Amino acid sequence: MKKTIKDYNYEGKKVIVRCDFNVPLKNGEITDDNRIVAALPTIKYLIEQNAVVILMSHLGRPKGQPNEEYTLFPVAKRLSKLLNDNVHFLKDDRVASDEVKAEIDKAKPGTVFLLENTRFRPEEEKNGEEFAKELASLADYYVNDAFGTSHRAHASNVGVSKLLPSALGFLVQKEVEIMGKAIENPERPFVAILGGAKVSDKIGVINNLLDIVDKIVIVGAMANTFLKAQGKSVGKSLVEDDKLELANELLASAKAKNVKLILPMDVVVATEISDDAEFKTVSVDDISDDVMALDIGEKSIKEIQSEIADAKTVVWNGPAGVFEIDNFNKGTFAIAESLSKLDAITIVGGGDSAAAIEKAGLKDAITHVSTGGGASLELLEGKVLPGIAAIADK
Ligand code: 3PG
Repeated sequence: MKKTIKDYNYEGKKVIVRCDFNVPLKNGEITDDNRIVAALPTIKYLIEQNAVVILMSHLGRPKGQPNEEYTLFPVAKRLSKLLNDNVHFLKDDRVASDEVKAEIDKAKPGTVFLLENTRFRPEEEKNGEEFAKELASLADYYVNDAFGTSHRAHASNVGVSKLLPSALGFLVQKEVEIMGKAIENPERPFVAILGGAKVSDKIGVINNLLDIVDKIVIVGAMANTFLKAQGKSVGKSLVEDDKLELANELLASAKAKNVKLILPMDVVVATEISDDAEFKTVSVDDISDDVMALDIGEKSIKEIQSEIADAKTVVWNGPAGVFEIDNFNKGTFAIAESLSKLDAITIVGGGDSAAAIEKAGLKDAITHVSTGGGASLELLEGKVLPGIAAIADK
C-alpha cells in the first residue's frame, strides 16, 4: 500500500504537487480543461490544510528547452478561474531557482504557486538528480497527482519522490483504484472495447486483457489488420502488414482462452479521408480495392450493443473510426452512448475515447473517464507505473 495524501499533516508546510496539466491548446487557449479540473480536489484539500501549494507539470514536448509556445501560463490563468483565487505563476525558465525558492519562502499558508513547464529543463526527462534536488528543495512534502504522467520516470515525479516524504494525490488514488479493481477483481461479464489505429500500440493490452475479460471487441483501423489476417480484402485501408501473423496469434489465443473476440461486420468506406468524400457502408466481405474503411457500420454497432448489453464491467480505449470527421464518427459516438446507458462499471481510457465522451456530453454517465492516455494503457497492460511505484509505502 502506498502512502496517500491524508497520511501527513501539512499545517504550515510547503507541498510540491506533480500534476498532469498537459492540456490541448489552440492559439494559446485551453480547449479541454479536464485534467486541470481533475486536480482540484487535491489542490483544495491542501489549501484547506493550510499548506503552501507548489504545483508543477509538463506541457507538450519542448525537448528540454524553454519555448514560449509551451509555457504553463494559460494553465495558471485557467486554474485561477477555477479556484476563484490567484494562482501565482512563477515564470522562470529554469523552473526551480533561488529566486523561485525565495518567492515561495515568503508565502502565506494557502498560497498556490505554479512553476514553469518542467520540460524546459533538459534533465527532466532523464530523471536528472540535480534537477530533482532543486525541485525538492522548494518543499517539505511531495504529492503525485499526475496520473497521466505516471508511466514516465522523470525528475519531477520519480526523482522528487525519493527526496521528500511522498504520497499519492486523490486523482491518482481514484484512477488506480477503479482501473486496478477492473483488472484484478472485475464484476462479470467483463468486456473490453479496443480501437485506434494500430495493433502494435495495443498488443500488450490485448495480451493482458485476454487473461481477464470475457469478450474483446476490436474496432478502428486496428480491426483492418485482423480482417486482413483472416483473409479478407481491406482495399486501401490502414493496415499493419507486418502484424498479420501477430493478429492471427491473438485470434488463436482468444479462442484458446475462451474469450469471444468480436470484429466489425460492416464498415463505412470512402476513397479518401475528407469531409466531402463520398462514403457508403459495406460488408467487411465487400471492401473494394479503391476504398478504405474509416468507421464501423450500423450492423457492427448493433452487434456491439448486444454483446455489451449484459456486461457488468466495460473498458473502452480507442475510437471506432476517424471521429474527427463527421461522416466517420457515428461508430465512436454510438459506443460512447451505448456505454452511457449500461447498468455497469464503465471505464474509458484517456485520449481520443475520453475526448469523444466529452464531446458527446456523456461524462457524467460514465463511471470513470481516465485522465491518462499512455498511463491508462500501461495500467491495462498490467505494467507497474514508475511514478506510482516510487511513492513511499505505508
Ligand atoms: C499524456 O498526455 O499522455 C501525458 O501527459 C504524458 O505526455 P508525454 O507522452 O509527452 O510524456
